Amino acid sequence: MAHKRIAPIGVMKQGGTAWRPLVPVEGFFRAWNVLFLGSMGTMTDQLHGLTKDIDSLREEALSRLESLQSVDDSVAWEREFLGPKGKMTTLLRGLGGLPPEARPAAGRAAQSLRQELENTFRPVRERLAKGALLQRLSADAVDVTLPGRQPLIGAAHPVSTMIDELVEIFGLLGFRAIFGPEVETGRYNFDLLNIPADHPARDVWDTIIVDDPDVELVLRTHTSPMQARAMERSEPPIRVIVPGKAFRFEAQDASHEWQFSQIEGLAVDTHITMTDLKGVLQEMARQLFGPERRIRFRCDFFPFVEPGVEFAVDCAICNGTGCRVCKHSGWLEMGGAGMVHPNVLRAVGHDPDIFTGFAFGLGIERLVMMKYGVDDLRIFAATDIRLLRKLSFVAF
Ligand code: PHE
Repeated sequence: MAHKRIAPIGVMKQGGTAWRPLVPVEGFFRAWNVLFLGSMGTMTDQLHGLTKDIDSLREEALSRLESLQSVDDSVAWEREFLGPKGKMTTLLRGLGGLPPEARPAAGRAAQSLRQELENTFRPVRERLAKGALLQRLSADAVDVTLPGRQPLIGAAHPVSTMIDELVEIFGLLGFRAIFGPEVETGRYNFDLLNIPADHPARDVWDTIIVDDPDVELVLRTHTSPMQARAMERSEPPIRVIVPGKAFRFEAQDASHEWQFSQIEGLAVDTHITMTDLKGVLQEMARQLFGPERRIRFRCDFFPFVEPGVEFAVDCAICNGTGCRVCKHSGWLEMGGAGMVHPNVLRAVGHDPDIFTGFAFGLGIERLVMMKYGVDDLRIFAATDIRLLRKLSFVAF
């Protein structure tokens, strides 16, 4: 190999922490060779080989560095040339094979290449990283002038709110809230309530039947089965209310839903009379609709009460003079009530000669409709969020 340039060792300068050769290391080894090694042929050959290796490594590394396009490329380049298993490391390891006298100078030359590669690589990597960052930033750009998205805030369903209100009102009157199963047996939904097997309420047209070969199961058609469960479970005095869902096989329209909510009330004790029933319902109406409210009882029939009534409250919107909400009758129908039938008391194990009781049941959706002048029952189970916006008074 022809060495064109020869430079003495002294022509190296220290810049910062890095050694930077002013001449190609190839030239340096030539000088080394001439000055110190004389005719030691083998070592010269070895050094020649190393010099060549260093130069070609530099050439390869630098030209590949120029073509790097991405951060990934730069990582790969660094691994290939400067990494622990990279070519630079391999070259440095190779120095161990040199004769001891040659190692320091050769080592310096190799280290100097390493420094050179590191110094040249650093700005390239920074440039590529910066480019990638800028690209990501512009891709993820947020338009800060867009209006924010309002978070949805939960709100209680107006039926739930009404239940809470009723639980509080009846709680002050001494009633405890209890809850019962929505899937009931025929025994509790009908039999114990003095509704015999041939009663039309058991007809499939009213009752949603759960298919079970062993037991008569229904979706409860009212909350009244809990009268029987409560009386069966405990000795009088009993004062309970039962809010919950009820189901009927019905065509839907503005005032009929197959799923709705009721609240049942039951008081059993010695000397309970119709007057107690009236007092309790009147107080409920006043608490819900204002102190001026009056209630009306009219005869009605339910198999599990005797006497039975339907009760209404005078319309709070028009004060009983007649308006659209009360359909110009002055009264709003609320539900059924009456004195617990002796057959029911007997069926659940209480002596009707000792105990008397009253029971009532009313539709909760109806109460909400009256309170807010809603004219379509179907909105309550429609899961339309506008219902909450309107009736739960939540700003969203
Ligand atoms: N359960 C009856 C119904 O759903 C209402 C009612 C309850 C009537 C209690 C009298 C006593 O229609």
